[in-house]
Amino acid sequence: MDKHAGPENAAAQFKVGMRSLAGAVSIITSSHGGRLFGMTATAVCSACADPPTVLVCVNQATTTHQAIEQSKVFCVNVLRHEDRELSGLFSGVHGSEMRGEARFREEQWTKLSTGAPVLRDALVAFDCRVVNRMVHGTHTVYLGEVQQLLIGRKGKPLLYADGQYAKLASLAHGEPLPEGLDYWGE
Ligand SMILES: Cc1cc2nc3c(=O)[nH]c(=O)nc-3n(C[C@H](O)[C@H](O)[C@H](O)COP(=O)(O)O)c2cc1C
Repeated sequence: MDKHAGPENAAAQFKVGMRSLAGAVSIITSSHGGRLFGMTATAVCSACADPPTVLVCVNQATTTHQAIEQSKVFCVNVLRHEDRELSGLFSGVHGSEMRGEARFREEQWTKLSTGAPVLRDALVAFDCRVVNRMVHGTHTVYLGEVQQLLIGRKGKPLLYADGQYAKLASLAHGEPLPEGLDYWGE
């Protein structure tokens, strides 16, 4: 990062750098006061297996953040590559009238122990209770202990890289690689 960049430039440079990180796309959901909330997210990772814990980073400006703050529960629904439209819907591409409940089609969703919406066709869904949180800048980092897990439909993950959706292609050892790429290891 350019040390002489102002705060706005630093954020812009950071975002350009982050485009290089390929991420699996999930929908983080929560439910509060009988209402459902959900948003598309790539800032999701495994934090610990004992106890089973996931880490998510949620922007404080989102409706889902308000719901998680109050309910202390969330579910990470990992998307299959066929779920691009669902990802768009939960990232707000259809504008403010498609927020909150409007994003949920009843037949696509169920619930497990926490009551947060669980996508029936997710690759996997981690139903979590918040056990720790840290506020940093615009986001809250949550650690969620997995209460129940749904191993959903078989498939390949939906990825997001360089500002666009992408699909996983397995590389067989010895297969010629696209220019500029190299194998790591033996
Ligand atoms: C591919 C992709 C990944 C995203 N990842 C995150 C994320 O990890 N954390 C986050 O707070 N917002 C993330 N967003 C933005 C939220 O999905 C977006 O702000 C959402 O509309 C918030 O919901 P709301 O309109 O109900 O407030 C991502 C958006 C996209 C398209």
